[in-house]
Amino acid sequence: YLKDEEGEAIRVLDIDGYYLPTFDKIIPKQEEVVRSIRTWKARDDDVLVCAYPKSGTHWLWEVISMLLNGSANRINLIKETAMLEGLTQPMYDNIKSPRVLNSHIYFRMLPEDFVKRKCKIVHILRNPKDVAVSFYNHHFKILEYEYSGKWENYFRRFINGQVDYGSWFDYTLDWEKVIQDNSDYPIHIITYEDMKKDDTKEIKQLARFLGVKEDEELIKSIAEACDFERMKKEKNPLEMATSDEWRGKEPGMYRKGQVGDWKNWFTVAQNELFDTAYAERMKNSKFQFRSMV
Ligand code: A3P
Repeated sequence: YLKDEEGEAIRVLDIDGYYLPTFDKIIPKQEEVVRSIRTWKARDDDVLVCAYPKSGTHWLWEVISMLLNGSANRINLIKETAMLEGLTQPMYDNIKSPRVLNSHIYFRMLPEDFVKRKCKIVHILRNPKDVAVSFYNHHFKILEYEYSGKWENYFRRFINGQVDYGSWFDYTLDWEKVIQDNSDYPIHIITYEDMKKDDTKEIKQLARFLGVKEDEELIKSIAEACDFERMKKEKNPLEMATSDEWRGKEPGMYRKGQVGDWKNWFTVAQNELFDTAYAERMKNSKFQFRSMV
């Protein structure tokens, strides 16, 4: 349990100080399995969506799956069925090609074979203030975490990185360095805010990166199919299968889907504290986020 100063706790798996959500129901020997991910075999056409939790992984996973399928038909699976750290090796090996994998772990933890083959990575960034609010709701609503803390305390916990997958700052800075140090590695960066602003433009660039046909009609249909309200409505029947895992039996993966919802949560004092921490931690970063003020 990750306890904060107020004694509020989040249930996690601790692997040498690196925290993951617990998936004991799906993966009985989770620690052993997670440690083995480095040895898993990749396929040349694997694509991996990487992001800190709550940055838009479900959204981009759906968009990329549709692009690779060449169709705007709804993917009849939830993205958790392709999340590296939530799978056993046989589950991973059984996914049909082309695989659209996803993960919230660090680059250095990915299968070595995946990196050796230079399989494509799409990295999503999202304004950390919105990530904090979204992650709070995630922790509060998913029963596995056994968490029912208050936002005013969670806010500090987020800045301190006392959550599964660790600190947003550490994660984001690490990926920025990976991108800088591996200029020949195919990593495409996309931001949640750009997707909200002009999804067809971003999906077109994604199509180019993935090497699939830039078909205007298809891209438009994919953007429409993955619009928040439609995705929420059409994905919820699938999410309902997991309803026992959610507070009140109500899956909450598709919550608000907006840029700037943090303004409804942060007090003026919290915002100042966050800005100070951000300025300090991100002083050498070139990443920029919209809607930070
Ligand atoms: P909010 O909690 O701010 O609504 P992830 O998929 O990485 O877990 O991120 C979840 C966040 O993405 C949630 O944010 C969720 O509502 C939002 N989201 C999911 N699907 C979306 C879509 N199609 N368009 C915009 N936002 C979406």
